[in-house]
Amino acid sequence: MANTFTPAPWPRRLRSQEWFGGATKDAIYHRGWMRNQGFPADLFDGRPVIAVMNTFSELTPCNAHMNPLVEKVKNGVYEAGGFPVEVPAFSTSESGFRPTAMMFRNLAAMSIEEQLRGLPIDGAVLMVGCDKTTPSLLMAAASTDVPSIIVTGGPMLNGWFQGERVGSGTHIWKFSEAVKAGEMTMDEFLDAEVAMSRSAGACNTMGTASSMASMAEALGMALSGNAAIPAVDSRRRMMAQLTGRRIVQMVKDDLKPSDVLTRAAFENAIRTNAAIGGSTNAVVHLLALAGRVGVDLTLDDWDRCGRDVPTIVNLMPSGKYLMEEFFYAGGLPVVLKRLGEEGVLHKEALTVSGQTMWEQVKDVKNWNEEVILPRARALTASGGIAVLRGNLAPRGAVLKPSAATPALMVHRGRAVVFENIDDYKARIEDEDLDIDETCVMVLKNCGPKGYPGMAEVGNMGLPPKILRRGITDMVRISDARMSGTAYGTVVLHCAPEAAAGGPLAIVQDGDMIELDVPNRRLHLDVAEDEIARRLAAWTPAHEVPQSGYAWLHQCHVEGADTGADLDFLKGNRGNPVGRESH
Ligand code: FES
Repeated sequence: MANTFTPAPWPRRLRSQEWFGGATKDAIYHRGWMRNQGFPADLFDGRPVIAVMNTFSELTPCNAHMNPLVEKVKNGVYEAGGFPVEVPAFSTSESGFRPTAMMFRNLAAMSIEEQLRGLPIDGAVLMVGCDKTTPSLLMAAASTDVPSIIVTGGPMLNGWFQGERVGSGTHIWKFSEAVKAGEMTMDEFLDAEVAMSRSAGACNTMGTASSMASMAEALGMALSGNAAIPAVDSRRRMMAQLTGRRIVQMVKDDLKPSDVLTRAAFENAIRTNAAIGGSTNAVVHLLALAGRVGVDLTLDDWDRCGRDVPTIVNLMPSGKYLMEEFFYAGGLPVVLKRLGEEGVLHKEALTVSGQTMWEQVKDVKNWNEEVILPRARALTASGGIAVLRGNLAPRGAVLKPSAATPALMVHRGRAVVFENIDDYKARIEDEDLDIDETCVMVLKNCGPKGYPGMAEVGNMGLPPKILRRGITDMVRISDARMSGTAYGTVVLHCAPEAAAGGPLAIVQDGDMIELDVPNRRLHLDVAEDEIARRLAAWTPAHEVPQSGYAWLHQCHVEGADTGADLDFLKGNRGNPVGRESH
């Protein structure tokens, strides 16, 4: 495939020279302060200054192992003739940030964007891992268009408990429900706690972190093979060093995010997400990222591009294995090659390596057909995210077919409504709750404005009295998100959300709801005039914050159907060097 990118001439003056170049008072001022760190004078001679954007935090456990990888990146930058500088980046912990890390994805993106623009930076290595760290740094890079490349921290090694693989997140949900069903003791659950996280790294399932690492690679924003290398594997450190070398050449060539993040790249990523059984969270993140580079990506592109792509990666939560085995089988390049062979990959898409996607993957081999399955044994023939519409979600909702129960894909049931997550928690274990397995559980006010932040609570657990009967899935509908590690027949991201007056807000106990995934339909079986009457009488139930970032978020966050970005952050604002700093 032809590579149409034309590298910029080198040498030329880089933006960092607006700070460091020459013998002016200002240049001496900028260099002088930097030299308190012992940097020799020649590091300021016009070579590429590379920001190593480090999302390390001990309270972001999935990224807590970043620092040795940063050193490898720096080695690579030095080797290639660049000047690496480590810059701490806002770190969003999925497992600990309240009310939800998603509320801070845009804040992180905004802060990192301003670092990339306001500092003497020519290129950036984005060191990411936990779920929101990947989209937030990508969004920042896209809005500044500073040459940037991703290197992820990598997934944890396989978890093992009582002789079986246990996956991050996925087994939290399974074990928690087993305890409620009386199939597991609480002591066993406590023993399993550390077995699920036996090494440094991000979640080892095809959860959101692994999905987003795969999205970065499929978009062309990471070196080939990056996504699956375990965090503690020596090849992860090698990947970091090679990434450091590569970013220097990217700066010299002026290979920017806008050269890579084209419509073709997004379509490749959507099809990849279907093939890997990736997270529904990738939908909101890629929509938001596309908004930063001006690619007109819509929710319907997810359905259109992914619909005929089978899920062939046999990883939890959809399948059996974990990221460690995915790496041993050959990882994402094998999947991309398969898409290319089946004619659904934009082979000519440019990547940060300077090669096209096809040039990178055409010669790889699948080393384990139990992990990366042949099409004939796909987990599901239609692995793409299903985009549902109807009077309950006029602007769309999503469902992950590979994680759902086939028998529930067409279902009509009586609504059991929870007004918010506190209402759900207060009543779900009530033995007198009027619910059976044919009902449809409805959770409101958990969208971008409602929670606030669109928490991962859409896969709300089933009532214990139903779990005890061995039933493990019911249709659930909400405006929330779901952890990428979770599973079930779960309709998510209903838009407009309840807190913005979407129709979800007026569903009542006893209403009948129809889900028809094959026909992409989500219908509230209530007369139109009654729906109109209820909507006219609706008033917001959630409290609107009066100050701080929560207020900013509340006032400006958009719906899940367009990526839940802040309205004023959309677009590419470039990287002008601006005025002098003193
Ligand atoms: Fe951080 Fe899963 S909670 S990667």
